[in-house]
Amino acid sequence: MTEIRTPRLLLRRWQDSDLAPMAEINADPRVMRWIDDGSVRGLDQTAEDIEQWEEEWDEEGFGLFAIELLGSGELAGFTGLSLPEFLPEVMPDVAISWRFGAQFWGQGYASEAAHATLEFALQDRGLERVISISRVGDEASANVIDKLGMVAEHETTHPEYDVALQIHSIDLTEFQG
Ligand SMILES: CC(C)(COP(=O)(O)OP(=O)(O)OC[C@H]1O[C@@H](n2cnc3c(N)ncnc32)[C@H](O)[C@@H]1OP(=O)(O)O)[C@@H](O)C(=O)NCCC(=O)NCCS
Repeated sequence: MTEIRTPRLLLRRWQDSDLAPMAEINADPRVMRWIDDGSVRGLDQTAEDIEQWEEEWDEEGFGLFAIELLGSGELAGFTGLSLPEFLPEVMPDVAISWRFGAQFWGQGYASEAAHATLEFALQDRGLERVISISRVGDEASANVIDKLGMVAEHETTHPEYDVALQIHSIDLTEFQG
């Protein structure tokens, strides 16, 4: 079982009790504003998402971690690694991504989880490079990306939703965890 503890967070695999809180996060238009075309996702879609995220863990040995607050046991969202199959031009790079409930923003949780994820990528998975794919205009993600020390690579267009995407990368052999 892959689990990581940071000072405030538990990064872990998904469990059944995560469905309701993750569906609540996915149903919030503020959270989904910069994801794909900005559509919210319902309970059934969230259940399918979690099933796919767990499949990726089984198949690839990495995936999106459920992020639990150590203090309260609440599910705050996710951070983790995935193969960005929707964007063939960047494959086979592995991408880091994050999504937190709005009540959990502005407390440094996303950056704390992202640091731990990059350490996992290097130390546990042996990855030397990780990318991020964010929508142009998503300033909250750009801030996390900057703080991680990721560097801008190029802009491209989402093949399905026709929105501008910014690709950043980090050389993990230089990463100060
Ligand atoms: C993108 C997202 C994860 C960023 O979350 P966030 O909470 O803003 O990011 P951070 O964890 O870096 O925290 C930000 C702020 O918390 C503050 N903070 C408060 N307490 C803190 C602490 N103990 N430690 C560190 N920072 C703390 C910091 O001031 C920091 O702001 P700063 O970097 O300007 O100083 C969040 O906005 C989100 O979930 N958005 C919706 C989903 C989304 O768009 N995902 C991206 C798709 S590509």
